[in-house]
Amino acid sequence: MNVKKPIASCTRLLAGVLVLGLCAPNVWAKGPDSLHAAIESGSHLFTTDTFGGRGMTCQSCHSGGGKISGQLANGGKIPSLSNAAAIFPRYSPRAGKVITLEDQIRGCIAGGLGGKPPAYGSQKLNDLVSYLTFLSNGKPIDMGGKPK
Ligand code: HEC
Repeated sequence: MNVKKPIASCTRLLAGVLVLGLCAPNVWAKGPDSLHAAIESGSHLFTTDTFGGRGMTCQSCHSGGGKISGQLANGGKIPSLSNAAAIFPRYSPRAGKVITLEDQIRGCIAGGLGGKPPAYGSQKLNDLVSYLTFLSNGKPIDMGGKPK
């Protein structure tokens, strides 16, 4: 019986796992340009940035960092954003077309905050998308679904 072969392949397997572990991008790794930094920045923008509007932030309406649903002064429902990134894109009756999460965020900045929406592809918008997608992380994609 040749015992060398299984040992050799076992060593190769272990080496492979080690190399993968060292080389695979770790999304939670910290650093200035990391995903972790984008999520943190998005979370900070969510609670502090008024986007040049009337002095409110996202958090003024979407409490608990966006995880808690609420109600507008006029009785309108404010949805929880816990699964927002998992239910967009979706058809918006108001817009009369399919909108993305970016479109929705920019709409809330223009309408809700009375501010100036950051450009598509800008760091601010990407950071807000990163934060909201982080809230939805692990939830099943349910396009056109309801906020939870
Ligand atoms: C004045 C209150 C108000 C502010 C401030 C506000 N929103 Fe909203 N937001 C709403 C309301 C009301 C809705 C639901 C109606 C709609 O779709 O416009 C909503 C919906 C959303 C949705 C879609 C959720 C879903 O599943 O339907 C997202 C995403 C969102 N807001 C993100 C943000 C972000 C990010 C900010 C800050 C940049 C923000 N909102 C600021 C009131 C607000």
